[in-house]
Amino acid sequence: MNTDTRSLIPQCFSVDDPYPIYARIRKLGPVQRDKESGYWWAFDYESVRALTFASHSEAAGLNLFPSEYGDRPLFKLLKKTLLDPPEHTRFRAPLARCLGRAKVETLREEIANVVDDLLDDLARKAASSGTVEFVSQFTEPLPVSAVAKLLGVSEMDANIVPCLRSLSAALGPGASKANIEAGDCAANYLVDWAANHMQVSEKGPISLLLHLQESGDVVSESDFIASMVSILFAGIQTTSYQIGNSLLALLRFPEQLKFFHESKGDASTAVEELLRFDTSMQFRSRYITEDVEVKDGVIIPAESNVIAMVGSAHRDPEYFDRPDELDLRRAPNPHLAFGGGIHYCLGASLARLVLTVSLPALVERFPNLRIAGECKRSAGGAFRGFDQILLVLGAS
Ligand code: HEM
Repeated sequence: MNTDTRSLIPQCFSVDDPYPIYARIRKLGPVQRDKESGYWWAFDYESVRALTFASHSEAAGLNLFPSEYGDRPLFKLLKKTLLDPPEHTRFRAPLARCLGRAKVETLREEIANVVDDLLDDLARKAASSGTVEFVSQFTEPLPVSAVAKLLGVSEMDANIVPCLRSLSAALGPGASKANIEAGDCAANYLVDWAANHMQVSEKGPISLLLHLQESGDVVSESDFIASMVSILFAGIQTTSYQIGNSLLALLRFPEQLKFFHESKGDASTAVEELLRFDTSMQFRSRYITEDVEVKDGVIIPAESNVIAMVGSAHRDPEYFDRPDELDLRRAPNPHLAFGGGIHYCLGASLARLVLTVSLPALVERFPNLRIAGECKRSAGGAFRGFDQILLVLGAS
């Protein structure tokens, strides 16, 4: 890896706008190996796509954690979710049936009602205080409710979101001892929460478990708990961040916002572009188990650790025309926001449903909304989004 790239990489995770940094690195060399760590980094679309679909081992990711993580509750939970075939196939198949498009579509009306209620609350709060904090009032509670509907949980516990934040901090790069300890508490809490809901389900249904049983799958208690926690962990923060990123992108391109507002129909093409333009999961790390040919015929050998920079791939001008422009009519749009291959996002249908229902409703209800101050970015790592967005809703 050249020294310029090495000095630019930390900025990809620390600056508010990493996209110009990605562009500079793509020019310096789209695929580079860091001799010190042995990691390969890929920044262009062709390479990121090839690495996304390549055979790899999730379980090998466990070896990258220092030994002190070893027998902690946090790590035990992680081990139940970072799986390779055949365990991964056994774990994923029943979940895929529960989270498929047809099942998720049955939640459309309920999710639209949740959106309406949250928009009413926003209007009330704005009437009394002038501004609203959009993340805590909308982007977080919406996916929490959507996932609760999916799981059949009537009321989601207020500790869930803080616990998910603690898990992210404990598993992220540079986690402190305090972060890891907090991650243990969060893991214990989530496991107990899921276990309690499994018991409740004998009396009052939790739909995930019922669907699993209906589809004829025998699900052990520990698999059920791990499934619940992976859905919470993978589904809530990603969707919350994507709603915030999408709104900010629309506000940055007023003519696109106008188009979005005026085209009352199906928002699905626009949502695909919002997922491309500023995706809430910026990179994936992989331990590949086969040689992978990437850009310019470079072969990354099997048994290499790779970082596939999806956010950068989405702005590759050799693949996307005018990649730094938001174009809500862009089609086809083969973005990689939900991954690909055997680990393709199981919640893609739910995420798409939430985005296509909520964003048009928001813009329709508050056509004059604007940012009221500085937005607070999330801490970094693979997830990209906002922890705080102050809005003035303006006259409806
Ligand atoms: C905008 C929102 C979302 C984004 C950007 C996103 C992105 C992703 C990506 C990129 C992966 C693949 C990771 C990899 O290849 O290593 C993934 C996997 C996964 N996602 Fe999502 N996701 C979102 C929403 C959701 C939701 C709402 C749920 C659940 C209701 C969910 C559940 C999962 C699960 C369980 C996996 C693991 C699949 C497996 O390993 O087989 N995601 N997601």
